[in-house]
This record gives sequence, C-alpha cells and structure tokens, in this order.
Amino acid sequence: PRISLISAPFGLGAGRAGSEQAPDYLIQLGLTSRLLQLGCNIDEMRKLDRSGMAAPSIQVPMNHAVEVLKMGVALAEAVETAVTAGRFPFVLGGDHSLAMGTLAGLTARHRKLGVIWIDAHADMNTESTSPSGNMHGIPLAVALGRAQLSLSHLLPGAGTVAPGNIVLIGARDLDPPEEALIWAEGITCYGVADIRRQGMASIVAQALNQAGLGMDGIHLSFDIDSIDPSEAPGTGTPVQRGLTADEAREALRLLASSAALCSAEFVEVNPLLDRNDQTSKLAIELIALFLSNLAI
Ligand code: ARG
Ligand code: MN
Ligand code: MN
Ligand code: MN
Repeated sequence: PRISLISAPFGLGAGRAGSEQAPDYLIQLGLTSRLLQLGCNIDEMRKLDRSGMAAPSIQVPMNHAVEVLKMGVALAEAVETAVTAGRFPFVLGGDHSLAMGTLAGLTARHRKLGVIWIDAHADMNTESTSPSGNMHGIPLAVALGRAQLSLSHLLPGAGTVAPGNIVLIGARDLDPPEEALIWAEGITCYGVADIRRQGMASIVAQALNQAGLGMDGIHLSFDIDSIDPSEAPGTGTPVQRGLTADEAREALRLLASSAALCSAEFVEVNPLLDRNDQTSKLAIELIALFLSNLAI
C-alpha cells in the first residue's frame, strides 16, 4: 500500500493542551525510522499548517471553533488529494476534532463510507448537547448530519456517513444525549464487556461486516483513550476499564490485514500528560504494527 502520512499537530479541539505535540514527539521518539525499518510503503509525508486557511463562514458556538474549522479545511483537502492520488491516508493527530476534516475529505471521494470508531467515547454530542464545549466530542454527530456544522462546510462535495455503517468499539463513557442518538439511529456499539465475552477477533469480524455492508471502503478512527489508562495514561480524557494494549494490538492487526480499510487516523496521544513516555511508545508500536500489516 502506498501510504500518505499526514501529520496534524493540532489540539485545540480538546479541553487540555498537549495533543498538538504528539506528531513531532512520536517522530522524535523514532516513529518514522521504525516505519522505514519495517518497510512500510510511505509515499509521502505531509505536516499540516492551518495558518493561511480560511475558516468556513458558519458560526459554531464551541471552544476554539474557528481554529478547529481552519484545521479541518486543511485536513479535508489533504485527505481528498491523497485519495484522489490512489493513496491510503493515515492521519496522525492531534485531537479527535480532526476526524471532521478526515471524514470530509473521505466522503467527498467515497460516497459510501463505513466507519469503525475505537474510542472510550462516542464523540456524538452536538453543539447543543456538548457538556464541555470541546469540539473533539462532536465529530460523529457532524458526520451523521445531526449537528449544525456539517462535513460539507469543511469541503464542498463532502457527504455524510450512514448510521448503519458506523460501529463503535470500546465505548464506555457516553453522555445521555449520545446514548439517545446511538439508540435512535440504531448504531452498533461494542463495549469492553462484549469484547471480553466474544473475543476481539469476533468483534472485529462483526464490525467489518456491519461497517462495510454495501460500502466502498471503511475508515478506522483510533482514539488512544480506548485503551485502559493503566497502559495509556497520556491522554486528555482517560476513562477507566478500557481495552488492554493486547486487545488493541489484536484489533489493529486484524483490521489492517482485512483489506477492507481505505484510511485511518490515530488521535488523542498527549505527551504532556504521559508517564515516562509510556503512551507515546505504545502509540509508536501500535502505528507500526498497523501500517506494516496494512493490506490494500
Ligand atoms: N463526551 C465528552 C464531551 O463531549 C468527552 C469527549 C471526549 N472526546 C475525545 N475525543 N477524547 O466533551
Ligand atoms: Mn474520541
Ligand atoms: Mn475518547
Ligand atoms: Mn462523560
């Protein structure tokens, strides 16, 4: 696979600073040399810069909305360009508000896109239900077309993602309006207990079936806070009783080798909140495992 590694050093969608440092920090700790060593087929590496981008004219009453939107526009364009060139976009964040940009770029090209969202959270609040005002909590509601902000504000020609083709894995901290939306839209959600009962291999197989049903491709969005804070403490909104690092390894290896993915993103590593680089080192290992197993 020809991979386009898109770094997005942006953290203003989160409530705490630090995730903007992750791309450079992971590279400093050896990410790219590891990828080259493993023979990952990286075609291009781009680092995004939102300065000079024009924000869409929509008013969004959320924290740092203008900056989030500018970054979203830059990312949407970069992802669309990568897809058009036949590359596999791998977005390295940064906080999860970036998913709006990624999904805008993807849906502009893939009219039928499935999404597998591995996260402690559902990120399905809207501007009116968000308890925090932080934009990393809304990207899936935006992608569903349930928020005022839509993907087409970021990139003309972007579409939406159908609820039947979204699968959540590892969710365990849902706000009541998010639960209501998941229920109303019939979105598939596998909690940690489901994974323990059925095994990760079975969950991944079901997720690929459900997300991919009738679709052109599946996007994987991986939030590091899906993993338990005992193994991944360096993140802004940690939630207890998460996935083990081994479960995350298994999921990423199976997803990468499935040949069903068209893109992926890796978000919410916060080096400032880490303990002895534990989370950054785990992130490097997981990204390398994922990209070196990628079959497309
Ligand atoms: N549900 C909370 C909110 O809306 C937390 C979201 C955390 N999101 C994340 N990508 N870490 O603010
Ligand atoms: Mn998230
Ligand atoms: Mn999360
Ligand atoms: Mn909560």
